[in-house]
Amino acid sequence: MGFRRHRDRWRACGALALIWPWWVISCVDAWAVDFAFDVQPLLARHCYACHGEDLQEGGLRLDRKEAALAGGKSGPAIRPGDGAGSRLVQFVAGVNEKQIVMPTEGERLSADEIGVLRAWIDAGAAWPETSVAKSKAADHWAFKRPQRPGIPATKNDAWVRNPIDAFVAAKLGEQKIAPAPEADRRTLIRRLSLDLTGLPPSAEDVARFVADPAADSYDRLVDRMLDSPHFGERWARHWLDLARYADSSGYEFDAPRSV
Ligand code: HEC
Repeated sequence: MGFRRHRDRWRACGALALIWPWWVISCVDAWAVDFAFDVQPLLARHCYACHGEDLQEGGLRLDRKEAALAGGKSGPAIRPGDGAGSRLVQFVAGVNEKQIVMPTEGERLSADEIGVLRAWIDAGAAWPETSVAKSKAADHWAFKRPQRPGIPATKNDAWVRNPIDAFVAAKLGEQKIAPAPEADRRTLIRRLSLDLTGLPPSAEDVARFVADPAADSYDRLVDRMLDSPHFGERWARHWLDLARYADSSGYEFDAPRSV
C-alpha cells in the first residue's frame, strides 16, 4: 500500500513540477502528517477567516469535519487519497490560472505548507473526532447549561425570608453593606406596581393593601399584579423596543411617520 501511495504521489508531483517547479520541494516531506498538529493550525491561520464559523465563502467551511469533507458550492474540495486532485490543494497552489488563489487575501501558503495539506489528503485526510476546532460561540454564556447554584450561607439569617434573599444577603455581606430597613406599605405597593406593571397603583389598591394585616398580603399583591394585563404590556414594551417599534420613524431619523 505504501509503495502504491508513493508512486501515485510522485506521479502527481512530477506532473505538477513541470508547470510549477517548486512544487517538487513539497513532495519531499509528503508523509507522516498529523492533522491536529500540522493541518488544523494551518487551516486556522490561513482559511478560517473566510471558511469558518463566521463566513463560509463559496459555501465551504473548514473548521468542522463533516462540513469540510462535504465541500463547498462546487462539491467536495477534499478527495481523500488524492491530494493533487483535491480542489483544496489546487486552489492554494494556484495550479489553474483562471482560478483565484486561496487565500484571496493575506500571505500565500509556502511550498511546505501546501505540501502538508497535500500529504495529509494523500494519506486519506484523516480527521480525528477529537480534533474539534474551538468555537468562539461555545464560550458564550448562552450556550452554557444553566447550573442551579447552592444557596449561600449568610450571617444575616434573621433577615432572610426566602432562598433569593440568601443570595442578596451573601452579596451585601461580601460588600459589608447592611440591608436597608423595610419600606412602609405605601412605598412597597408603589414600587411593586411600577416594577411589575409600569404604572402607579390606584388609590383603592393602596388603601386595600395598607389596611390588609394578613402575613401573606404582600405575596397576594404580587400575584394580583402578575395576573394583570399591564404586566404583559410592561414586558412587551422591551420586545417592541428591540423590534424598533416607534410612532415616529425612530430616534435616528425622528420624522413623523404615516402608517
Ligand atoms: C479572505 C477570504 C478567504 C480566505 C482567507 C480563504 N478563502 Fe477560500 N474562498 C474565498 C472566496 C471568496 C471563495 C469563493 C470563490 C468563488 O466562488 O469564486 C473561496 C472558495 C474556496 C474554495 C472553493 C469552494 C467551492 O466549492 O467553490 C476552496 C476549495 C477554498 N476557497 C479553499 C481555501 C483554503 C484551503 C483556504 C486557506 C488556505 C482559503 N480558501 C482561504 C475566500 C477566502
